[in-house]
Amino acid sequence: MLASCVPATEPAPPCAIVVFGVTGDLAARKLLPALYALHANGTLHPKTAVVGFARSDLDDESLRRRLGEAVREHVADLDEDVWREFAGRVTYVRGAYDDAGAFERLAAHLDAIGLPDHVYYTATPPETYAPIAGGLADAGMASERTGFRRLVVEKPFGIDLASARALNEHVLERFAETQVYRIDHYLAKETAQNLAVLRFANTLFEPMWSNRTIDHVQITMAEPLGTEGRGAFYDQAGVIRDVFQNHLLQLLALVAMEPPGHYDADSVRDEKVKVFHALRCAAPGRTVLGQYVAGNGHPGYREEADVDPDSRMPTYAAAAFEVRNWRWAGVPFYVRAGKRLERKASEIVLRLKAPPYVPFDLTDVPKADRLVLRLVPDEGIRLHFNAKRPGQDLEVDRVSLDFAYHGRYQRPNPDAYETLLLDVIEGDATLFMRADEVEAQWRVVAPLLEAEAQGALHPYPAGSMGPEAAHALLEGDGRHWYRPGPD
Ligand code: BG6
Repeated sequence: MLASCVPATEPAPPCAIVVFGVTGDLAARKLLPALYALHANGTLHPKTAVVGFARSDLDDESLRRRLGEAVREHVADLDEDVWREFAGRVTYVRGAYDDAGAFERLAAHLDAIGLPDHVYYTATPPETYAPIAGGLADAGMASERTGFRRLVVEKPFGIDLASARALNEHVLERFAETQVYRIDHYLAKETAQNLAVLRFANTLFEPMWSNRTIDHVQITMAEPLGTEGRGAFYDQAGVIRDVFQNHLLQLLALVAMEPPGHYDADSVRDEKVKVFHALRCAAPGRTVLGQYVAGNGHPGYREEADVDPDSRMPTYAAAAFEVRNWRWAGVPFYVRAGKRLERKASEIVLRLKAPPYVPFDLTDVPKADRLVLRLVPDEGIRLHFNAKRPGQDLEVDRVSLDFAYHGRYQRPNPDAYETLLLDVIEGDATLFMRADEVEAQWRVVAPLLEAEAQGALHPYPAGSMGPEAAHALLEGDGRHWYRPGPD
C-alpha cells in the first residue's frame, strides 16, 4: 500500500513464493518481471525462493531458460547477471491442479527449501482456484504453525454472486480471511493509491467532493487491444467480468467512499463495502453493451482466435450508476470500458457544477471545471479551470494545473504487481479485496449480467470510441463523455 511506494531500506523477509501457472501469460508478462524488478532493486530478500508449479514437462533449468526468454521480452533494461542470480532461486514442481500427489510433492519441496513463510499465487485459469486452495489445505499447507501461509487469488473471483459466494466458502473453510489476498491490480496503480492522499491529506479537494459541487463523475477504461491470445478466457468472461466488476467498481469506490478513521486494510475496505451497498445501476435501460466488429484494419471480435463465431459476449459496457447517500444523491457516475477502442486510457473525471452566476459579459458560457485523474498511460492529475486571458478585453481562457508523475519523479512508477507482491510478503491487505467486498461488487453488476444474458448488443467498429448508444446515454442527460487520454 502507500508505504510500499518508496524503495525499501530493509529487504522484505525471505519467503518461498509458489507461482501456480508459472508457464502462463500472467507469470511471463507480470509476475516474473515484477519479482525480478524487486530482486534487482534490493527490495526482495536475497534468500527469497520462487517455486514454479505447472503441468508442463520441465525441470529447473528448462523453466529458467523459458522464463528468461519471457522476462527479456517484457523487461526493457534486463541486467543478465542480476537475472542469472535471480533465476538461480527459481525451481520447478510439475503437477496438475487437482492431483493430491503433486501437492504432497510441493510440500516436500518447500520443506527442503526450508523457508518458514510461504506465498501461493494462482496465476491460473479461474476454474483452478478452488482445486488449488483444496490441494494446498489437504497437503497441510494452509496451516500457519511454522510461518505465514498467504494465498493470492487472481480475478475474476467467481463469475457471478452465487459462484463468488461458493468460492469464498470453499476457500474460507481452508484458509482464514487474513490469509487470503484477492487481487485487483488497478488498486496498486499510483493514481488509484493517490486518490486517498489527494482527498485526505489536503484541505483543497474534500470540501468540493460531494453533490454540492460535483455535477457528475466519469470513469473510463479504454483499451486498443483485442483478445491478444486470451480469446478462450475472454469469450467466457466478457468485459463485465474481466474489468467492470473489479477494476472499474474499485475506482468508483475510491472516489465515493467516506474518509476512513485510519488507513488500514479493514477500515478502508469497510468504507468501500458501504459504497457498494449504496450503489445501484441508475435505472433499467441505463446500460449499453457492445461488441466490436471489423474496422480500421482490425478484425471483428467474432473473428478472433478461440472466440465463438456467433459469440454474443460484450466487449464494451457503459452504465450509469447512482450512489444512494447524502454525499452523492443526484450525482450520476458514468462508467465505461471496452476492448479495441481508439486509444489506451484509464481515467476518472470529476465534472464540477457550473458557477451559479457569472457577472461578465461573455459571448460564450465558460466551460465547467474538471478534475481529471489519469491512471493509464502517463499517470497524473489535472485540474481544468477558467482564467483571464491577458489583454485589455475580458476574455476567458481554459487553463490547467497539472501534476504528472513523469515530470516530477525520476524513477518510473513501480508496476502494480511489484507493489502488490511486496504487500503480500509484508502482510498488508489494504489493496486487496475482502470476501464481503467481492460479493457486494457482484451484486452491483447483477443488472449488467442480466442485460448480457438478454443478449442486447450494440456493434461498434474496432478502433472507434464505442457504440453510438453509449454516447446517447449521456446526451440524454445533457452531458457528453470526455475524450480520455493525455491530450
Ligand atoms: C486485466 C484484464 O485485468 O487488465 C485485461 O484482464 C486488461 O483484459 C488489463 O487488458 C489492463 O490492465 P492495464 O494495467 O494495462 O490497464
